[in-house]
Amino acid sequence: MTIGVEIEIRQLEAEEVLSRLREVAELWPDASRARIDEIVPRHVTREGFRFLGAFAERRLAGFVYGYRGSAGQWWHDRVAAALGREGSKRWLPPGHFEFTELHVREEFRRRGIGGSLHDAVLDGIDAPTAVLSTQTDNHPAISLYAGRGWRVIVPFLDFGSGRPFLIMGKDLG
Ligand SMILES: CC(C)(COP(=O)(O)OP(=O)(O)OC[C@H]1O[C@@H](n2cnc3c(N)ncnc32)[C@H](O)[C@@H]1OP(=O)(O)O)[C@@H](O)C(=O)NCCC(=O)NCCS
Repeated sequence: MTIGVEIEIRQLEAEEVLSRLREVAELWPDASRARIDEIVPRHVTREGFRFLGAFAERRLAGFVYGYRGSAGQWWHDRVAAALGREGSKRWLPPGHFEFTELHVREEFRRRGIGGSLHDAVLDGIDAPTAVLSTQTDNHPAISLYAGRGWRVIVPFLDFGSGRPFLIMGKDLG
Protein backbone atom coordinates (compact mmCIF):
# COMPACT_ATOMS: atom_id res chain seq x y z
CA MET A 1 0.00 0.00 0.00
CA THR A 2 1.45 3.45 -0.91
CA ILE A 3 0.09 6.67 0.61
CA GLY A 4 3.00 9.05 0.19
CA VAL A 5 5.03 6.79 2.43
CA GLU A 6 5.04 3.05 2.01
CA ILE A 7 2.72 1.33 4.52
CA GLU A 8 3.28 -2.29 5.39
CA ILE A 9 0.57 -4.25 7.19
CA ARG A 10 1.70 -7.38 8.98
CA GLN A 11 0.70 -9.65 11.82
CA LEU A 12 2.67 -9.42 15.10
CA GLU A 13 3.15 -12.29 17.51
CA ALA A 14 2.37 -11.71 21.19
CA GLU A 15 6.01 -11.16 22.13
CA GLU A 16 6.49 -8.35 19.60
CA VAL A 17 3.21 -6.73 20.69
CA LEU A 18 4.44 -6.67 24.29
CA SER A 19 7.78 -5.20 23.21
CA ARG A 20 5.96 -2.34 21.45
CA LEU A 21 3.56 -1.25 24.21
CA ARG A 22 5.06 2.24 24.31
CA GLU A 23 4.08 2.78 20.66
CA VAL A 24 0.71 1.10 21.20
CA ALA A 25 0.05 3.58 24.02
CA GLU A 26 0.93 6.54 21.78
CA LEU A 27 -1.83 5.50 19.37
CA TRP A 28 -4.39 4.74 22.10
CA PRO A 29 -4.69 8.04 24.01
CA ASP A 30 -8.00 7.24 25.71
CA ALA A 31 -6.36 4.47 27.75
CA SER A 32 -3.66 5.19 30.34
CA ARG A 33 -0.29 3.49 30.05
CA ALA A 34 -1.02 1.65 33.30
CA ARG A 35 -4.26 0.29 31.88
CA ILE A 36 -2.58 -0.80 28.63
CA ASP A 37 0.15 -2.52 30.67
CA GLU A 38 -2.57 -4.34 32.53
CA ILE A 39 -4.95 -5.39 29.74
CA VAL A 40 -2.75 -6.11 26.71
CA PRO A 41 -0.61 -8.81 28.40
CA ARG A 42 -3.88 -10.48 29.43
CA HIS A 43 -5.40 -10.21 25.95
CA VAL A 44 -2.35 -11.63 24.11
CA THR A 45 -2.91 -14.93 25.92
CA ARG A 46 -6.53 -15.26 24.78
CA GLU A 47 -7.52 -17.89 22.27
CA GLY A 48 -7.44 -16.67 18.68
CA PHE A 49 -5.50 -13.50 19.57
CA ARG A 50 -4.70 -11.71 16.34
CA PHE A 51 -2.86 -8.37 16.14
CA LEU A 52 -1.89 -6.53 12.97
CA GLY A 53 0.21 -3.42 12.73
CA ALA A 54 0.49 -0.87 9.92
CA PHE A 55 4.07 0.36 9.67
CA ALA A 56 5.38 3.51 8.02
CA GLU A 57 9.02 2.61 7.68
CA ARG A 58 9.56 1.07 11.13
CA ARG A 59 7.09 3.25 12.99
CA LEU A 60 3.70 1.93 14.07
CA ALA A 61 1.07 4.02 12.23
CA GLY A 62 -1.95 1.94 13.22
CA PHE A 63 -2.98 -1.31 14.82
CA VAL A 64 -5.94 -3.62 15.23
CA TYR A 65 -6.48 -6.63 17.44
CA GLY A 66 -9.06 -9.08 18.65
CA TYR A 67 -9.51 -12.62 19.97
CA ARG A 68 -12.18 -15.25 20.49
CA GLY A 69 -14.61 -14.10 23.13
CA SER A 70 -16.01 -16.40 25.78
CA ALA A 71 -18.16 -16.43 28.89
CA GLY A 72 -16.43 -15.25 32.04
CA GLN A 73 -14.64 -12.40 30.28
CA TRP A 74 -15.60 -8.95 31.54
CA TRP A 75 -16.60 -7.40 28.19
CA HIS A 76 -18.34 -10.55 26.97
CA ASP A 77 -20.51 -10.89 30.06
CA ARG A 78 -21.69 -7.29 29.97
CA VAL A 79 -22.56 -7.51 26.27
CA ALA A 80 -24.29 -10.87 26.79
CA ALA A 81 -26.46 -9.34 29.54
CA ALA A 82 -27.42 -6.46 27.23
CA LEU A 83 -28.19 -8.81 24.31
CA GLY A 84 -30.31 -11.22 26.35
CA ARG A 85 -30.54 -14.94 25.76
CA GLU A 86 -31.67 -14.90 22.10
CA GLY A 87 -29.35 -12.07 21.13
CA SER A 88 -26.41 -13.82 22.76
CA LYS A 89 -27.15 -17.04 20.88
CA ARG A 90 -27.26 -15.08 17.66
CA TRP A 91 -24.20 -12.85 18.13
CA LEU A 92 -22.00 -14.58 20.71
CA PRO A 93 -21.96 -18.22 19.54
CA PRO A 94 -18.94 -20.38 20.38
CA GLY A 95 -15.91 -19.13 18.47
CA HIS A 96 -17.16 -15.58 17.88
CA PHE A 97 -14.48 -12.94 17.36
CA GLU A 98 -14.20 -9.89 19.56
CA PHE A 99 -12.92 -7.01 17.49
CA THR A 100 -11.26 -5.31 20.43
CA GLU A 101 -9.23 -2.26 19.31
CA LEU A 102 -8.53 -0.32 16.12
CA HIS A 103 -6.40 2.85 16.17
CA VAL A 104 -4.63 4.90 13.54
CA ARG A 105 -2.11 7.60 14.45
CA GLU A 106 -3.74 10.98 13.85
CA GLU A 107 -1.46 12.16 11.04
CA PHE A 108 -2.09 8.92 9.12
CA ARG A 109 -5.89 8.98 9.24
CA ARG A 110 -8.22 9.16 6.20
CA ARG A 111 -5.80 7.37 3.94
CA GLY A 112 -7.36 3.93 4.03
CA ILE A 113 -5.22 2.46 6.83
CA GLY A 114 -8.07 1.88 9.31
CA GLY A 115 -10.17 0.18 6.66
CA SER A 116 -7.25 -1.97 5.53
CA LEU A 117 -6.43 -3.04 9.10
CA HIS A 118 -10.08 -3.90 9.67
CA ASP A 119 -10.21 -6.05 6.54
CA ALA A 120 -6.87 -7.73 7.29
CA VAL A 121 -7.69 -8.82 10.85
CA LEU A 122 -10.92 -10.48 9.72
CA ASP A 123 -9.49 -11.97 6.55
CA GLY A 124 -9.65 -15.76 6.63
CA ILE A 125 -10.54 -16.13 10.31
CA ASP A 126 -12.67 -19.07 11.29
CA ALA A 127 -15.44 -17.37 13.29
CA PRO A 128 -19.21 -17.23 12.75
CA THR A 129 -19.65 -13.62 13.88
CA ALA A 130 -17.66 -10.65 15.09
CA VAL A 131 -18.73 -8.12 17.71
CA LEU A 132 -17.36 -4.78 18.90
CA SER A 133 -18.19 -1.75 21.01
CA THR A 134 -17.63 1.87 20.16
CA GLN A 135 -18.74 5.20 21.60
CA THR A 136 -22.18 6.32 20.36
CA ASP A 137 -20.65 9.61 19.14
CA ASN A 138 -17.62 8.06 17.40
CA HIS A 139 -18.79 8.91 13.88
CA PRO A 140 -15.56 8.02 12.05
CA ALA A 141 -15.53 4.52 13.57
CA ILE A 142 -19.28 3.92 13.17
CA SER A 143 -19.08 5.01 9.55
CA LEU A 144 -16.09 2.73 8.90
CA TYR A 145 -17.89 -0.27 10.42
CA ALA A 146 -21.29 0.45 8.82
CA GLY A 147 -19.61 0.62 5.42
CA ARG A 148 -18.13 -2.84 6.05
CA GLY A 149 -21.27 -4.77 6.90
CA TRP A 150 -21.53 -4.19 10.65
CA ARG A 151 -24.87 -3.34 12.21
CA VAL A 152 -25.90 -1.93 15.55
CA ILE A 153 -27.11 -4.76 17.80
CA VAL A 154 -27.26 -2.86 21.12
CA PRO A 155 -27.84 0.88 20.65
CA PHE A 156 -26.74 1.93 24.13
CA LEU A 157 -24.53 0.36 26.77
CA ASP A 158 -22.82 2.00 29.74
CA PHE A 159 -19.86 -0.16 30.76
CA GLY A 160 -19.57 1.83 33.97
CA SER A 161 -17.56 4.83 32.81
CA GLY A 162 -20.63 6.99 32.21
CA ARG A 163 -19.65 7.19 28.54
CA PRO A 164 -22.32 5.73 26.23
CA PHE A 165 -21.27 2.90 23.93
CA LEU A 166 -23.10 0.90 21.29
CA ILE A 167 -22.48 -2.68 20.21
CA MET A 168 -22.15 -3.72 16.58
CA GLY A 169 -22.16 -7.21 15.06
CA LYS A 170 -21.11 -8.66 11.73
CA ASP A 171 -21.75 -12.07 10.18
CA LEU A 172 -18.58 -13.71 8.94
CA GLY A 173 -19.84 -17.12 7.84
C1 LIG B 1 -11.71 5.20 13.28
C2 LIG B 1 -10.29 5.21 12.69
C3 LIG B 1 -9.58 3.92 13.09
C4 LIG B 1 -10.39 5.30 11.17
O1 LIG B 1 -9.08 5.14 10.63
P1 LIG B 1 -8.69 5.77 9.19
O2 LIG B 1 -7.37 5.23 8.80
O3 LIG B 1 -8.84 7.23 9.23
O4 LIG B 1 -9.86 5.14 8.29
P2 LIG B 1 -9.87 5.03 6.69
O5 LIG B 1 -9.11 6.15 6.07
O6 LIG B 1 -9.49 3.64 6.31
O7 LIG B 1 -11.42 5.26 6.40
C5 LIG B 1 -12.33 4.18 6.32
C6 LIG B 1 -13.74 4.71 6.49
O8 LIG B 1 -13.89 5.22 7.83
C7 LIG B 1 -14.82 6.29 7.81
N1 LIG B 1 -14.16 7.49 8.35
C8 LIG B 1 -12.85 7.61 8.70
N2 LIG B 1 -12.64 8.83 9.22
C9 LIG B 1 -13.81 9.50 9.18
C10 LIG B 1 -14.20 10.80 9.60
N3 LIG B 1 -13.35 11.67 10.16
N4 LIG B 1 -15.52 11.13 9.45
C11 LIG B 1 -16.39 10.27 8.91
N5 LIG B 1 -16.07 9.03 8.46
C12 LIG B 1 -14.80 8.64 8.63
C13 LIG B 1 -15.27 6.48 6.40
O9 LIG B 1 -16.42 5.68 6.25
C14 LIG B 1 -14.11 5.87 5.61
O10 LIG B 1 -14.52 5.43 4.38
P3 LIG B 1 -14.19 6.35 3.09
O11 LIG B 1 -12.69 6.47 3.09
O12 LIG B 1 -14.73 5.50 1.99
O13 LIG B 1 -14.88 7.63 3.33
C15 LIG B 1 -9.47 6.45 13.19
O14 LIG B 1 -10.26 7.60 13.02
C16 LIG B 1 -9.04 6.37 14.65
O15 LIG B 1 -7.98 5.81 14.96
N6 LIG B 1 -9.85 6.93 15.56
C17 LIG B 1 -9.51 6.94 16.98
C18 LIG B 1 -9.61 5.56 17.57
C19 LIG B 1 -10.99 4.98 17.39
O16 LIG B 1 -11.99 5.66 17.53
N7 LIG B 1 -11.04 3.68 17.09
C20 LIG B 1 -12.26 2.93 16.93
C21 LIG B 1 -12.73 2.55 18.27
S1 LIG B 1 -13.83 1.17 18.19
